[in-house]
Amino acid sequence: MSIPFIDLAAQQRRIRPALDAAIARVLDHGAYLFGPEVGEFERQMDAFAGIGRTASCANGTDAIAMPLMAWDIGPGDAVFCPSFTFAATCEVVPWTGASPVFVDILPDSYNIDPASLEAAIQAIKAEGKLAPKAVIAVDLFGQPADYPAIRAICDRHGLKLISDCAQGWGCTLDGQSPLHWADAMTTSFFPAKPLGAYGDGGAVSVKDDRLFDLIDSFRVHGRAVKSDVEGHNFDHDPRYMNLRIGMTSRLDSIQAAILLEKLKLFREEIELRNQVANRYAKGLGDRVLQVPSVIAGGVSTWAQYVIEHKDRDGLGAHLKTKGIPSAVYYPLPMHRQPPYEAYPAPGGLPVTMAKADTVIALPMHPYLTPQVQDEIIAAIVGYNG
Ligand SMILES: Cc1ncc(COP(=O)(O)O)c(C=O)c1O
Repeated sequence: MSIPFIDLAAQQRRIRPALDAAIARVLDHGAYLFGPEVGEFERQMDAFAGIGRTASCANGTDAIAMPLMAWDIGPGDAVFCPSFTFAATCEVVPWTGASPVFVDILPDSYNIDPASLEAAIQAIKAEGKLAPKAVIAVDLFGQPADYPAIRAICDRHGLKLISDCAQGWGCTLDGQSPLHWADAMTTSFFPAKPLGAYGDGGAVSVKDDRLFDLIDSFRVHGRAVKSDVEGHNFDHDPRYMNLRIGMTSRLDSIQAAILLEKLKLFREEIELRNQVANRYAKGLGDRVLQVPSVIAGGVSTWAQYVIEHKDRDGLGAHLKTKGIPSAVYYPLPMHRQPPYEAYPAPGGLPVTMAKADTVIALPMHPYLTPQVQDEIIAAIVGYNG
């Protein structure tokens, strides 16, 4: 039997009747968009995070774009983000006309290095061509970035802060959601994410009511929202007033219905993922170049379990012969990819460049049994490449 990299089927087996019933309810009421499940899921996300107001949307990429749009970020502006991330983090910046500025990561957590961020902001300010406006911190592989340090830097320089929590939604630092520090926290419901749907979906959570309203407007073609309409008289039905250039970015009712069922398991699944991570760390801690360490006070959702190995590609090939899947996140940092090469990466990002050659992700999901994990650990320890 082959070992799955992420076992979505095991989770589905646990809740299949509930999922079937939830999907059937949507088919019965027929509100495929804007159905009651969407609002209910948004409220439950707020309750889970314990902070903020959530606007669901079509995917985790739109979720990052919309706060940038709300802050009027555009040509001549700089948005700082890591290069060691999935394309979506930086892709949205040129959408607005602004420039991504790539920042290096910490060698143990793979998240933004606050010292590199500070240095990049200073370098951009000294050059004088771009105006620093925002930072997008990524909770890579599931663990929270160093938000107290990043927030302090943002406050010093007057920058907005987004937590791209697509891989880490549900993670905490000192018991708090990243939104405690960030102005906006975004996530993706891509099926393989720790909280994934059965299709695309995303969400952005914020603390500020006007920011929420602007995002609520952008996700429906820039329509007039409550705070636009209150106290004003319009010649036309305000429902058809489009006050800003927006987009179509909605979470389908069926996906919300599925996510409501999955959210019921999510706390337990985070705990199970942490048990899996602890077993890997115990078995591999002194046998490979590096096993992941989580920031002090942090709880990771373990979207990925990434180790480092001096012969990463050889190890991947060896695991394949044993029926064990692996993956490399990310083999080519974003600042070295053709569309992004011209954007600034002050200091050349040496940690990012070194990590790209050694990282390898192992099977990780809440339902990985100790027996299968022992097999994976033995295969890694037995490789002498
Ligand atoms: C770090 C990060 N940001 C953003 C995204 C974008 O999410 P989506 O695929 O839902 O647009 C992803 C998803 O893969 C991601 O891993």
